[in-house]
Amino acid sequence: MVALHFLKGAAAMKVTQLSPHIGAEVTGIDLRNPTDAESRRRLNAAVVDNVALVIRDQDFTPRQYLAAIALFGEPMEQHFTQYALPDCPLVHEVSNRHTDKSGKRVMHGAGWHTDHTNHVRPPKYTSLYAVALPSSGGDTAVVNMRAGYEALPEAMRQKIQGMKTVNVFQGSASARYSGQSADAQAEHKPEPVLQPLVRTNPDNGAKALYFHPVKTENIAGMGAAESQTLLADLLERSVRSEFIYRHQWRKGDMLIWDNRAAMHRAYFDYDPGEYRLLYRVLVRGELPF
Ligand code: SIN
Repeated sequence: MVALHFLKGAAAMKVTQLSPHIGAEVTGIDLRNPTDAESRRRLNAAVVDNVALVIRDQDFTPRQYLAAIALFGEPMEQHFTQYALPDCPLVHEVSNRHTDKSGKRVMHGAGWHTDHTNHVRPPKYTSLYAVALPSSGGDTAVVNMRAGYEALPEAMRQKIQGMKTVNVFQGSASARYSGQSADAQAEHKPEPVLQPLVRTNPDNGAKALYFHPVKTENIAGMGAAESQTLLADLLERSVRSEFIYRHQWRKGDMLIWDNRAAMHRAYFDYDPGEYRLLYRVLVRGELPF
């Protein structure tokens, strides 16, 4: 039986590019079944090449989802442990019903960001799986920061080459982002972590812009205000519509993207009375360089 699944998985899987700069769709594979080495290679290459990948028609329990993620690497711990599933803690809920200590609804991920830049080894991939969806809206968008970097003027690329960002759990710029919970910082002692502003993807050698508008407090050797001005300018120049993949969720979708070449954000443009629940898993990355 296993051997049959093996052959079916490898032969039937189809990867279709969705736009010239970002996004691909995978059909014809059920990641609950054993997956052969060639399918694993193609899936990982598709994430790196296309930055964001949607794998259609999955039907996971949390444990099956976690097992599927192992095809891409080692799942890692996440911030906000209160959202971890009690019996499968590497899987977190991303829900529009979460509230902060004052009872206010939190809107995590409402602005462009990448995950956990304050970790020494931040996640190389982030994945979401749709569990409950509003009748319309609630998309997740991913932007190709490799294309964003390549689109910068040469003088700007030279200026930022070699710069390091200083990353904390929640930087002082967080006030601008309604998605951040006000009580979060108090629970996490910030221990700054340096990251390269221009990051090289070890899987293809490509450079990309790499920073988090909230967690990046400043650029090393530069004041906070000057740093934020530069980062805002880089964000504006690099987040272009043609570099964005805006994912409209369907039941059964598993979305995965390469944090070494991407930022992402959620859209809160749906009826808040409707339920939106995704499961999220992070895949451990390497030391950025
Ligand atoms: C996130 O930033 O991980 C959440 C994205 C989403 O809710 O679509």
